[in-house]
Amino acid sequence: MLQATIQIFKSAMISRRALFKINNLLLYHVHQVQKVLFTQLVPRSFSTTTNRMANADISKTLNANLWDSDPELWDIIKKEKRRQITGIELIASENFTTLPVLQCLSTCLHNKYSEGLPGERYYGGNEYIDQIERLAQKRSLEAFNLDPEQWGVNVQPYSGSPTNFAVYTAVAEPHGRIMGLDLPDGGHLTHGFFTQSKKVSATSLFFESLPYKVLF
Ligand SMILES: Cc1ncc(COP(=O)(O)O)c(C=O)c1O
Repeated sequence: MLQATIQIFKSAMISRRALFKINNLLLYHVHQVQKVLFTQLVPRSFSTTTNRMANADISKTLNANLWDSDPELWDIIKKEKRRQITGIELIASENFTTLPVLQCLSTCLHNKYSEGLPGERYYGGNEYIDQIERLAQKRSLEAFNLDPEQWGVNVQPYSGSPTNFAVYTAVAEPHGRIMGLDLPDGGHLTHGFFTQSKKVSATSLFFESLPYKVLF
C-alpha cells in the first residue's frame, strides 16, 4: 500500500486522478490501521449471553468496516472528500487536518468519560486520559514558550466556539457585557451575534453582547 503511494508521488506530474488515488489509498490505509489497532470490543454484558450465534452476529456488526456496515453513509463521506479535494475552500479558519490527527480521532479514546481535570475526575478509569491531557498541557505551554510554574492551560474545548463560551463564563456573569467583532465584519457567531428580530447565537441569549464593526 505504502509502496504504491510512494510510486504515485514519484511520478513527475501529479494529476488530479493521481491525487484521487493517493487520497483513496490514504483513506483505506487509515481505516486498515484503525481496524487492526482499535477494533471495537464486544461489551461484557453481551459476552455473558448463552446465545453464541447472537454474540457472533453482534461482534461482526460492531467490528465491521463502515463501508460494509453503512455503505450509504460511506458513500456520502466519499463525496464530501471528493468535494474537499476538487474545490477551493475560502473559509480561512477551516483546516485540512493530518493523518495522525484523523487516526487519533478514531480511537478508543472516544469511549471514555473524563469530566473534571487530570487527577480530579468525576469517573474512574482516567489514568491514560490524564496522561494525554497532561501531555497536551505541557506541549501547549511549550508551544507558547510559557513557564509552567507561572502559567496554566486548559486544553479541553473541542473547538473555537466552546472555547469562547468558556472564556465568557470565566470573565463575565450571566447577562454580563461582552464585546466582539460583529459577524458580518469578519467576526464569529459566538461573539454574541443577534439581529433586530432574533438572538441568533446562544452567546447573545446568555450574555449582553455589543458587537464592534470594521469601518472602511
Ligand atoms: C474568532 C472565532 N471564534 C470562534 C470560532 C469558532 O470556531 P469553531 O468552528 O472551531 O468552533 C471561529 C471560527 O472561525 C472564530 O474565527
